Amino acid sequence: MKTLNDFDFKGKVVLLRSDLNSDVQNKKLLKSERISEAAITIKELKKKKARVVILAHQGRPGDEDFISLKQHCKQLNKHVKVKFVEDIIGEKAESEIKRLKDGEAILLENVRNLKEEFDLNSNKLTDFFSRNCEIYVNDAFSVCHRAQASILLPKYIQKSCAGRILEREVNALKKLKLDGTLYILGGAKPEDNIKLLGKNKVLSCGLFGQVCLMNKGKKLGEQENYLKNRKIFIEIDKNKLKNVETPSDFAVNINGKRKEIPVEEFPNENEIFDIGEATQKKYIAEIKKAKAIYMKGPAGDCSKKQFSNGTFAILKAVAGSKAFSVIGGGHLSDAIKASKVNIKKFGHISLSGGALLNYIAGEKLPGLEVLK
Ligand code: 3PG
Repeated sequence: MKTLNDFDFKGKVVLLRSDLNSDVQNKKLLKSERISEAAITIKELKKKKARVVILAHQGRPGDEDFISLKQHCKQLNKHVKVKFVEDIIGEKAESEIKRLKDGEAILLENVRNLKEEFDLNSNKLTDFFSRNCEIYVNDAFSVCHRAQASILLPKYIQKSCAGRILEREVNALKKLKLDGTLYILGGAKPEDNIKLLGKNKVLSCGLFGQVCLMNKGKKLGEQENYLKNRKIFIEIDKNKLKNVETPSDFAVNINGKRKEIPVEEFPNENEIFDIGEATQKKYIAEIKKAKAIYMKGPAGDCSKKQFSNGTFAILKAVAGSKAFSVIGGGHLSDAIKASKVNIKKFGHISLSGGALLNYIAGEKLPGLEVLK
């Protein structure tokens, strides 16, 4: 795989696919490590006098966090100067690309606004960028499991390579030996997590833990509506749940305050925001026994301080264990910072969620394959 060391970027129009996808609350972008890290490659390309065109996404069409990248650009500008262009493949984008001088960078609008992003054939998006850009740099390891147009552009732009973040992720993962690993799977994307269910022991938490519990036959009440309305609930084969531990209590929100309720007291009218203390204790005992650990996604809603306890307790236990640990999940890396756990105690902290998980599950990632 080629890297930024393999090309002369001076005066070249470089299409950089970054991953800026971050937590959003009430349409407001939260402070994101993915964005500060993305700045590393942008800075290097600017220093090498490239004309940088950044392409990225936020959320999925129809979801609450599917917003413009305007706020991302503002946050990016705390680290590196980048101009926001409210267009992707239209005349405005084309003229801004043509106007770029050496060492300048622009960020285009959320690429998932285009239906062409989800089309695997050559289309208006692939035509536009193969016409306007000379080198493609993929710095979005965390999106490499998606066969989407902006990830598969090396098919259309002859010169392509990995950015620094992607390079760092791949190099670290090459060192992994995950046989017999304990999986701690949380977060809000169960369809990704089910790939790892089977032989290995799994501690389920986050929205995923609730989905597992429902699949074991437990009724949760109001929370079921939340999971079903947002299409988070999925059916999971009972056989796959054999090695999956599920939470034994949950923290709910009562007038803004945290209240812990045992699973036996569900169904009820409460929405769930975290795992409770009994679950934390049970999981920490397993973590102490583990030889290797892979943790993906938070155990609760860490955007609210009173519901960060579960995630912080698990992170502390993982950091304190002797096991080699890999932590993944873009949203989890922000929680790690907030938890104040010493990051040096983890084996590798990835900025990826689903992509890392697919990689660990032994799948080929379309974005990496096409870069080879
Ligand atoms: C992520 O947050 O894992 C990546 O940005 C990919 O997002 P996606 O799951 O919406 O494709």
